[in-house]
Amino acid sequence: MFQGLKIGRHSVPYPVIQGGMGVRISGHRLAGHVALNGGIGIVAAAGLALGSSSYDGGNFFAADRQGLLDELRKAYEIAPDGVIGVNCMVAVSNYDEVVRTACEGGAKLIISGAGLPMNLPALTSDYPDVALVPIVSSVKAAELIARKWHKSYQRLPDAVVVEDPDTAGGHLGEKPERIGTGEYDQYATVRGVKDYFAQQWDLDIPIIAAGGIWDRQDMQYALTHGADAVQMGTRFVVTEECDADDAFKQAYLNCTKSDIGLIMSPAGLPGRAINKNIEQVRQRDVDLDVYCPSGCLKKCAYKAERERFCIVHALDRAQKGDIDTGLVFCGSNAWKADRITTVKEIFDELFPQEEREAV
Ligand SMILES: Cc1cc2nc3c(=O)[nH]c(=O)nc-3n(C[C@H](O)[C@H](O)[C@H](O)COP(=O)(O)O)c2cc1C
Repeated sequence: MFQGLKIGRHSVPYPVIQGGMGVRISGHRLAGHVALNGGIGIVAAAGLALGSSSYDGGNFFAADRQGLLDELRKAYEIAPDGVIGVNCMVAVSNYDEVVRTACEGGAKLIISGAGLPMNLPALTSDYPDVALVPIVSSVKAAELIARKWHKSYQRLPDAVVVEDPDTAGGHLGEKPERIGTGEYDQYATVRGVKDYFAQQWDLDIPIIAAGGIWDRQDMQYALTHGADAVQMGTRFVVTEECDADDAFKQAYLNCTKSDIGLIMSPAGLPGRAINKNIEQVRQRDVDLDVYCPSGCLKKCAYKAERERFCIVHALDRAQKGDIDTGLVFCGSNAWKADRITTVKEIFDELFPQEEREAV
């Protein structure tokens, strides 16, 4: 049996958030269809400039803003009454503007990680209905955010996503040497964050488990071990509605467990990806002498030292179907993908009809 999910003033029938997946893996189509099917759909803000028709090669930040407004408008065309939010990465240079643009474009929630979103409430103060959801991988990070938000803005999170660095896709909030060692306990962290808000702030907010949730059994495990809802990324990539090129989805269908591993992002964070082509990803930018065209990250080893690769272009190439020299982010479960489904089929499997009738 399951319960719906209420975050701030926004409710959906199913306790599922589709994880934001940057550089147009979760754009308007995926977010719109997840919202239409009764989950929370998330447009990822990172790197939207490169897919925006307004991008002329020199106006990255203006095109990023326009791209986000366009993605939100199109997502609401698919699900006019749905709950659609935006994933904003703290690590991007135009973070403040991206958050403000998301609010302007009608985002009902902002989910924010890849750094601690310490000033998020200040950026959304004109939009009190927008729910604020930090992503953390430790109780300590949740505490730091709550203390700062309360002291400076008299606000607390409306929900918290707890992301498991041992399984989640994309950038990870843990040192690489501590990933996969068995030290991290996802559901102890989920319960720790829940208890912290209950005990310290007398607050019952949804705690959302992210990472490694593939099917109904995984979701039920999460819900019975302390999570109020789940955030799923990898599973939603292999859908017809996912905004990536078919070759990106095919890379998931073709990969094996041993193709999936860690890479070091120029942002200074580890990331999980199909990493067997990582030398080609690097070589591509070196061969073509691609220099940082936009300064899209606050801190970037490629911008500073030409170390590693230009991540926004590497992710952009993969999204467009160049999976030889593109970077294919994925969670640890990508190898389980064996067919392309629809978003509706995923919801039908997660929430069988007889359970829906009983709710
Ligand atoms: C292709 C891909 C891109 C991602 N991009 C982002 C991102 O831009 N911002 C973010 O906070 N998380 C990002 N993530 C993490 C997801 O939002 C999600 O929390 C995580 O992948 C959940 O684990 P799962 O993929 O095992 O379901 C990404 C994940 C994937 C697979």
